Amino acid sequence: MSYNCFFLNDNNFPRGGSGRLEGKVAIITGGASGIGAATARLFVHQGAKVVICDIQDKLGTSVAQQIGNKQTIIYVHCDVSIEADVKNVVNTTIAKFGKLDIMFSNAGVMGNPFTSIQDIDYNMIKNIFDVNVVGGFFCAKHAARVMIPKKKGVIIFTTSIVSTFYSDLVHIYTTSKNALLGLTKNVGVELAKYGIRVNSVSPYTISTPLMLNAFKVNKEMADKWFTEGGNLKGVLLSVEDVADGVLYLASDESRYASGLNLIIDGGYTTTNVALPEVYKRLFINKTM
Ligand SMILES: NC(=O)c1ccc[n+]([C@@H]2O[C@H](COP(=O)([O-])OP(=O)(O)OC[C@H]3O[C@@H](n4cnc5c(N)ncnc54)[C@H](O)[C@@H]3O)[C@@H](O)[C@H]2O)c1
Repeated sequence: MSYNCFFLNDNNFPRGGSGRLEGKVAIITGGASGIGAATARLFVHQGAKVVICDIQDKLGTSVAQQIGNKQTIIYVHCDVSIEADVKNVVNTTIAKFGKLDIMFSNAGVMGNPFTSIQDIDYNMIKNIFDVNVVGGFFCAKHAARVMIPKKKGVIIFTTSIVSTFYSDLVHIYTTSKNALLGLTKNVGVELAKYGIRVNSVSPYTISTPLMLNAFKVNKEMADKWFTEGGNLKGVLLSVEDVADGVLYLASDESRYASGLNLIIDGGYTTTNVALPEVYKRLFINKTM
């Protein structure tokens, strides 16, 4: 079972009005699928010119064609772990659309979530860190290169709820997302003096290829898992919900937000139900 693309599933999307990104130019990494593709669709709807980049060239090209025409959205190959690729996508964006207002550094990989600390080796760490962390550095560096002279811009990273809660799974992924959170806040301080805002978005779980392939489950199984495990009942988090959060961070509506980690998790990371659940299991259910 292998998934390499994720289609939009919310018929009411895009929600709300339009024009919130009128005149802006954005790059979205990991834009061929999932959160990246949904955000590209929303950004174009909101008036932005968008460059999506990814390593899935066929899928990325077709997603761009589905979203708009070449005047509004293009696909460029970019492996974010290769600096020359990131430099090229920024330069291509400037050549095509004249500027860069928004860098959405979103591409990510998870690896095997179940690997014990005893079995982790250097290559496993390197493979995930090269994309999630090194890729984030390159995106920030090359966005800053063109944003600093203009004294404005927005950089957004996709972190995860694992940047704020911890478990016995996904050690490398969790560490990489914590590194990205550190990058968000540190670089945000340096770039603030140029009027550039740096924020991150941390979603709860969604049934995208990243999750389905890592946990070897299909969408139906994963949706059931995420619904039952979620804190907020009656809603299943979608890529479109995350895109709506990214839109806020990208638009002028968040003009004073920097160093913010926007957690979109239905309150999941505010809870720790272990003690009450064990109390119920040990002392209440037993006597019922
Ligand atoms: N799905 C979730 O539950 C969830 C939760 C929190 C955070 N995230 C994060 O969201 C981001 C997007 O993931 P998604 O859930 O939309 O998954 P996805 O699998 O739908 O999309 C990830 C995209 O990143 C691309 N990619 C992978 N390596 C790349 C590289 N080296 N260079 C460029 N592109 C590359 C993939 O080809 C893919 O198109 C990731 O950073 C992920 O860690 C996902």
